[in-house]
Amino acid sequence: MEHIENVTFFDHPLLQHKISMLRDEQTGTNEFRKLVEEIAMLMGYEALRDLPTEDVEIKTPIETCMTPMIAGKKLAIVPILRAGLGMVNGILALVPSAKVGHIGLYRDPETHEPHEYYCKLPEPIDQRTIVVVDPMLATGGSGSDAVSMIKQHGGQHIKFMSIIAAPEGLQRLHNDHPDIQIYVGHLDRCLNDHAYICPGLGDAGDRIFGTK
Ligand code: PRP
Ligand code: URA
Repeated sequence: MEHIENVTFFDHPLLQHKISMLRDEQTGTNEFRKLVEEIAMLMGYEALRDLPTEDVEIKTPIETCMTPMIAGKKLAIVPILRAGLGMVNGILALVPSAKVGHIGLYRDPETHEPHEYYCKLPEPIDQRTIVVVDPMLATGGSGSDAVSMIKQHGGQHIKFMSIIAAPEGLQRLHNDHPDIQIYVGHLDRCLNDHAYICPGLGDAGDRIFGTK
C-alpha cells in the first residue's frame, strides 16, 4: 500500500481486480452494486485501523478477561448522495453500530460545480470519527464541499474514501483539507472535457441505481 502524507493508495490485487470489474461497461447494476459494497468493505478495513477501542469484560469458557472491542457509537459514515450510498453497507458490515449521516450534492452538468440539496448529520458530531464515502473524486468539488459542511457542523476527525480519483480531484481535496485522511482505491489518469474521470467507470450514481 502506497502512502503519502494523509493519502493512502491501495494496491491489493483483490481490490484492484474488483475495481477493474467495476469499470467494465458490461457489468450490470446488480453486480456493480455488490462490487461497490465489497470494495468499500475492503477499503474500510484499512481506513478504520485507528478506530478507538475500549476494554470490556468478557467471560470465556475458561475465565473472565478484559479484552478490546470497537467503541462503535463513535463512528459516523457520511455518504455523498447519491453514489456514496452504495458504499455504506460495506462499512456497516464492519461496524454495524455506526451512525449514518447524509449529504446531498449534485454536480451542475455545465459548470461541474457542486450544489447542496440535503444535509443531515448525527449530532453531536465533534466526538466522532467521520468517514465520508463517495466512489468518485473527479474535480474534487463535491468532496471538498462535503468536508467543509461537516467541519461547519463541528466535525474534526474526518476520513474520506473514494474508489477512483482523478489527480485533479485528489489535489484539490488535499489542498482544501490537508488535515483529513484520504483513501483512494485507484488513481486514474485525468479528467475529460465533461469532468468525467478517464478511464473511470462512467457515472457511478447511474450505474448503482440503474438510471440514466
Ligand atoms: C458524482 C459522484 C461525486 C461527484 C464527483 O455525483 O458521485 O459525488 O460526481 O465529482 P466532482 O469531484 O467533480 O465533484 P453526481 O453529482 O453525478 O451525483 P449523483 O451521485 O447523484 O449521480
Ligand atoms: N462523477 C461520476 O460519477 N463519474 C465521473 O467520472 C465523474 C464524476
